[in-house]
Amino acid sequence: MNLGYFISFEGIDGAGKSTHIDRFCSLMKSRFPNREVVVTREPGGTELGEQLRSLLLNAPMNIETEALLMFAARREHIAQVIEPALTAGKIVISDRFTDASFAYQGGGRGLSLDKLNDLERWVQGQPDGTLLEPNLTILFDLPGEVAEERRSKARAPDKFEKLDLNFFEKVRQEYLRRAKENPNRFHLVDATQTPETIWDGLERLELRI
Ligand code: TYD
Repeated sequence: MNLGYFISFEGIDGAGKSTHIDRFCSLMKSRFPNREVVVTREPGGTELGEQLRSLLLNAPMNIETEALLMFAARREHIAQVIEPALTAGKIVISDRFTDASFAYQGGGRGLSLDKLNDLERWVQGQPDGTLLEPNLTILFDLPGEVAEERRSKARAPDKFEKLDLNFFEKVRQEYLRRAKENPNRFHLVDATQTPETIWDGLERLELRI
């Protein structure tokens, strides 16, 4: 039985989600002192997953190989980290989860959503027929050009961050499509706002934990 609470952070590269995760984790700890909080990320979160991450973010590969490796890393992550933590009643905060595969491999790269749905069911299917999914997904949304400008001022780009504006606009649109399809799970953040304004909004978020 799942007694915990699962939160994912999503958005195109440069949207600013990473800026808020640590602070959000501290907020959860102070708001729910009786709950343990686990912070993790995808691709990654396990020893094997981190090895796959470094391949995924650096090595050129076929689109389907990329999707399969994302989901392979996710399977390991769920088995080793997410499921045990949720069963133990912990709050799990993941920097990206399956919405990123739909947005990047589906929207951005153009892999068929049917194939992604199959992988999702394979990797996240529960014995009762439901999917293991975040209870809440915080989506940092902003136009591709603004994100590109922010990225150019940050560190050296990885394989995804080198892709063009058109790619990131398609990623953004797929994120927004999924948000529209799952209004109860998604919380949309206008990431063009200042970090302070964004933080005020996150602090006021009502969580049914
Ligand atoms: P990211 O989460 O942005 O980490 P950092 O802030 O350290 O760069 O990097 C992960 C990259 O992997 C990001 O470009 C999105 C991509 N990605 C996918 O393409 N598909 C996925 O399923 C996941 C989880 C990530």
